[in-house]
Amino acid sequence: MKSIPEFLKRKAAGVPITMVTCYEAATAKILNETSVDALLVGDSCAMVVHGFESTLQATLEMIEAHTAATRRGAPDKVIIADMPFLSYRGSRDGSIQAVARLMRAGANAVKVERCRGNTELISDLVEAGVPVMGHLGMTPQSVNEFGGFKMQAKGDAEAQTLLDEALELEEAGCFSIVLECIPGQVGEKVTDALAIPTIGIGSGPDVSGQVLVLNDLLGMDATFSPPFARRYMDADQMISRAVEGYCEDVRESEYPKEGEYRP
Ligand code: KIV
Repeated sequence: MKSIPEFLKRKAAGVPITMVTCYEAATAKILNETSVDALLVGDSCAMVVHGFESTLQATLEMIEAHTAATRRGAPDKVIIADMPFLSYRGSRDGSIQAVARLMRAGANAVKVERCRGNTELISDLVEAGVPVMGHLGMTPQSVNEFGGFKMQAKGDAEAQTLLDEALELEEAGCFSIVLECIPGQVGEKVTDALAIPTIGIGSGPDVSGQVLVLNDLLGMDATFSPPFARRYMDADQMISRAVEGYCEDVRESEYPKEGEYRP
């Protein structure tokens, strides 16, 4: 996938969209050579890169720097940058300036969590030529309102609200919506009701595509593995083995050897 309009075409063609998070240039360079459709510079960087307990600590400066680094590593990929906590809830001008910084850093689009209070800004951005991805369900910036990282839209009324909000986001001009941690049946119902694609995470198979936090997919942290995040490797063990191998070689004078230094 080379551009944002292809999201809509993918849904129409029934071809699943693939997205992973990315935060820096070295990984972006690897991902640039894969078939993954889009990279999300998520505010999850606050947790997986910076070690905070939630995404509330992500700042505009953080996302801007991670977006620029990701763009330098992945010149050919569609990149979506997350609008950090409250960066789009102050003045209209302040929100627009925040978006401008992320787009200038190399994003092709921005992602905004929740619907209520955001549709006017989303319409303005879309009118100004900035593609916007919505995000509903277990929106991590609302962790305090939810009382933890908990599945959302489990009851009928909540599911109906989510559906109504998805339709509002579509009406406001979003080109796609992330659905995070909602029951599979709700994901399917929302996806069927929309013309734009839904990208699921922990929301079952009946959506238009999937997104995973790259660190979860790679198995970087043995202490954190949500049930929906399939591990495709155990990077924690592999990195640990590699570093132990290096330490052992240094301690036993096995490194460096001839050819690995200039006599
Ligand atoms: O910040 C992030 O990584 C996200 C994904 C989990 C969708 O928003």
